[in-house]
Amino acid sequence: TGVARNTSTRTMTSIKQELSALFKAALQQAFPDANEVPLVEPTNQPKFGDYQCNNAMSLFGRMKGKEGAPKNPRAVAEAIVAALPSSDIITGKPTLAGPGFINVRISTEWMSEHVRTMLIKGPQTWAPTLPYSRVVIDFSSPNVAKEMHVGHLRSTIIGDTLARTLEFCGADVLRLNHVGDWGTQFGMLIQHIAETRPGGLGGDEITTEDVGDLQVLYKASKVRFDEDEAFKQRAREAVKALQGGDPQMLAAWSRICEASRREFQALYDRMGIRIQERGESFYNPLLKPLVDELMEKGVAEESEGAKVIHVEGFPNPLMIQKSDGGFGYATTDMAALRQRIHEEKADRIIYVTDAGQWPHFDLVFHAGRKAGIVSESGAPQLDHVGFGVVLGMDGKRIKTRSGGPSVRLVELLDEAKGRCAETIRERRKEAGEEVDEAEIEASSTAMGYGAVKYADLKNNRNTNYKFSFDEMLSLQGNTAVYLLYAHARIAAIIRKANRGDILELAKTAKLEPQHEKELALMMHICRFPEAVTQTVTELMPNRLTDYLYDLSDKFNSFYVECKVVGSEQEASRLLLCEATAVIMRQCFSLLGITPLYRI
Ligand code: ARG
Repeated sequence: TGVARNTSTRTMTSIKQELSALFKAALQQAFPDANEVPLVEPTNQPKFGDYQCNNAMSLFGRMKGKEGAPKNPRAVAEAIVAALPSSDIITGKPTLAGPGFINVRISTEWMSEHVRTMLIKGPQTWAPTLPYSRVVIDFSSPNVAKEMHVGHLRSTIIGDTLARTLEFCGADVLRLNHVGDWGTQFGMLIQHIAETRPGGLGGDEITTEDVGDLQVLYKASKVRFDEDEAFKQRAREAVKALQGGDPQMLAAWSRICEASRREFQALYDRMGIRIQERGESFYNPLLKPLVDELMEKGVAEESEGAKVIHVEGFPNPLMIQKSDGGFGYATTDMAALRQRIHEEKADRIIYVTDAGQWPHFDLVFHAGRKAGIVSESGAPQLDHVGFGVVLGMDGKRIKTRSGGPSVRLVELLDEAKGRCAETIRERRKEAGEEVDEAEIEASSTAMGYGAVKYADLKNNRNTNYKFSFDEMLSLQGNTAVYLLYAHARIAAIIRKANRGDILELAKTAKLEPQHEKELALMMHICRFPEAVTQTVTELMPNRLTDYLYDLSDKFNSFYVECKVVGSEQEASRLLLCEATAVIMRQCFSLLGITPLYRI
């Protein structure tokens, strides 16, 4: 396992990590046999301190009754404090509270200097280090010829943010689109196209023109498949021919995939999402050898003609070969798991799908361990990132206006963008400003797409979420629109000061926060690395959106009470404004949102 490498030098780990290192040393010295892991957290009552160390209570519990043990948790805390190395991050003496909490205050000078350095060297010098390097993230993964639905949109948005955040931390991320491009749907689809195109079945290959609107073809072929027994039979024969490598079938299959790929790619391009296609078909040559090997090793066994892996504690086995000899979704995932570990050398593999697929992945992960693909120690780390369903405002699964199965994603982005364009145009008119269509195009794209992404990311992903244009485009509350405006407002303050290059200012001026709100804002800026760490550890994008929303909130409280331009502390406060804007932009970038500089 390698360690992720960030190309830029780190100028700060995080307050929490710095303190943890100090308390680790103190614990080591005061209680060398205890092997304690420091428990350091921000306090929730800033009047007692900024951070606290909570080891004393549990440590006391474990030592109680032993020879020479301290008489109470407070005595343990006192011993830890006495052993705490001196450092310039902590200001004043640590204080004790309650049964044995150790509270510390963070030095204002320490924070000021780190914020100033961050302005000069860039926010990437605050990226946390990860204990692993190579990450495979399997996300988006729609199915060819079927509709890319809102669930796939969620997977795309959540997966992209997690990938961006891991990349920010220096991980070597492989973004994989596990497209459903192999399976029974192709038999019926190819058969249907061949039978209904102008020239009939004929001898010619299926061409791009024959493929046309895949959505429509898929639906029509599905109806025939369900209603017409003879057609069903022919479709099954077609699948067999395809899987047997029939060249004409393969050519038709590849035309269909191409058409589908073009549609998906258009959506990714619009949303600024990078992803590499490596669909189910990629693993096809690996399936039979894998099944044979698992049978040989006795990991898999025959059961009613099928081949399965039994895993202790699971009611159903993992089916790796059907009784008709066919391979399925689970076989492909077993092969993919092995390929990603052996060939891609993944240290961590992340799967982003709807929560309903958790039982499948849980079983695959356990079967992987039984098969020896995943080591006994659990390496690499395997994570399933599940998410809830998208509901309309009526609380039911989201529907298109036409009442179809789900909203067309393109329509959804178009509508968000269109509504934003209208708002901006009105704003310009009201202000008597010129309407610059190019600017409106750029801003409404940033706002509209940003709003759709943010509305998804800000929720705890495990919950279902209600999709509402009115809510996500609101100027108030936890929305992308609100945050983009907040950022634009800060940019306007900095422009108004007219001090030239802020970077130059950072080289000559210092941050000297005095007001309580200034201090609170600066502390929050310094907590950015902690939010990033939480996001990648828990794989919860809402940690980052919560952080960003708080940042904007703390900025507003500061700005209400502290005059910036024209004040005596102008230089210091401008640097604080710029630091806020820089961290906001870094958050936007991790969320895949384009910042706005103008209201
Ligand atoms: N294509 C699948 C679906 O639409 C998602 C694939 C997720 N990735 C995987 N390795 N199984 O539900």
